[in-house]
Amino acid sequence: MVRPIIAPSILASDFANLGCDCHRVINAGAEWLHIDVMDGHFVPNITLGQPIVASLRKAVPRPDDASSDKPKAFFDCHMMVSEPEKWVADFAKNGADQFTFHYESTEDPLALVKLIKSHGLRAACAIKPGTPVDVLFELGPHLDMALVMTVEPGFGGQKFMPEMMPKVSKLRELFPQLDIQVDGGLGKATIPAAAEAGANVIVAGTAVFTAADPADVISYMKQEVAT
Ligand code: DX5
Ligand code: ZN
Repeated sequence: MVRPIIAPSILASDFANLGCDCHRVINAGAEWLHIDVMDGHFVPNITLGQPIVASLRKAVPRPDDASSDKPKAFFDCHMMVSEPEKWVADFAKNGADQFTFHYESTEDPLALVKLIKSHGLRAACAIKPGTPVDVLFELGPHLDMALVMTVEPGFGGQKFMPEMMPKVSKLRELFPQLDIQVDGGLGKATIPAAAEAGANVIVAGTAVFTAADPADVISYMKQEVAT
């Protein structure tokens, strides 16, 4: 059985206080941090790169790092970049735990999955709203996670697209054990549709980082996925 995982997107954090902001959402129950990497080419926005990941890794150790008592989290890197192949080694070296590339950004998804795994990372593949889910059918058995985008990648704070849910249901039907992530516009109002379709890894930026009580939002979404 897949388990519910909430992954706050640091895009909605206060970058001047990134470490503290991340500790706050981890202490509120988040197990993953979703790190949105944008290159201004694959998407029309620029965010952050591996130096930030490396700094954040010092403030937020891996979940299995018994040598530290700091708040810990799994780093889920969502690579909205052209030529993702170029960055696998760097992100592995700088503290990523999972590397999610876009299906639309590479000519050989399977070779990229193998490259990612060869660096000791979990491998995931994302599809934009306009990309049919069928492209993941063959790749699915090789993936650790599939990401169904529920907004056009590029910006936080957009409106959830419920019409993407049939893609999630289809993947869940075909791959009962696969982690299936949804990303964009998720919060208390939209989690029921995503949970019902079978998503178990929930990215939420605005909904978690701007909440007066992030623990309440995180536990609510987790509960919705679990039931
Ligand atoms: C959009 C990013 C998302 C985004 C989610 O391109 O991939 O991760 O930050 O933000 P919210 O939850 O605010 O829609
Ligand atoms: Zn994302």
